[in-house]
Amino acid sequence: MIIIKLGGSIITNKEKPISPRKKVVENIVKNLKKINEPMIVVHGGGSYGHYWSVKYDMHTKPKKYDMHGVAIVKNSMIELNKIILDIFTKNKLNPYSIPPTDFISGNKPIIKKIKEIGNIAKSGLIPVTYGDVLWYGNKKTYILSGDKITTYLSKILKPRLIIFVLNEDGVYSDLKTKKLIYELKGENPKISENKMDVTGGMTRKIEEATNIAKLGMNVFFVNGNKPERIVKAIKNKKYEGTLFRGKRNV
Ligand code: IPE
Repeated sequence: MIIIKLGGSIITNKEKPISPRKKVVENIVKNLKKINEPMIVVHGGGSYGHYWSVKYDMHTKPKKYDMHGVAIVKNSMIELNKIILDIFTKNKLNPYSIPPTDFISGNKPIIKKIKEIGNIAKSGLIPVTYGDVLWYGNKKTYILSGDKITTYLSKILKPRLIIFVLNEDGVYSDLKTKKLIYELKGENPKISENKMDVTGGMTRKIEEATNIAKLGMNVFFVNGNKPERIVKAIKNKKYEGTLFRGKRNV
């Protein structure tokens, strides 16, 4: 099994509010068709969820945020999810949308439900879930990133590998020259951040990837503008990107 996180920066134009990059998603989906393995897709918020979260000052910390903001963010994620699902079905794949409220209660993953997602994937459907605004209780809500969801799913389902599809080639050791780190072994790379991101951008992604690798699984960062690299990474061929080598594969 493979878990694929489609970053908001690749599926949308993060610089411009409410702007899906349908062509890019379509090219990614066409490449996913070449994979004969159960997969689960998680997508981010990009210029949908992040845009509105920033507008309404909502963050990952559970707090009493503006309820209208909660409604708007939630709505925008459903809209983006629908765009993604439509591209999958149009290309004859079988996505099965699962909002995170189905398998996370408050801030706790529901193990039984996550195992069910694994079974759905094995049955030939492609579970598609996404970063979202979650109800926490006591009128509090919080923004849950797709990266965090990817970690929850990985911990419980132990996929063969996890791929973060980005708008960059991977992690750079030098931002100016864009020198790519092919394998990350504890360096602390400096990265630029986007103002429209409430869940921590690249720093958070690296953190989640490191956590997952510590659990033993390989994690790849791949550029979604070159989607053939996703297939290469999955088929163990040489490709451009960053590998966080899982402990069990060292
Ligand atoms: C964010 O999910 C979800 C919302 C803002 C509602 P992510 O944090 O996974 O989104 P990207 O991939 O960084 O855009």
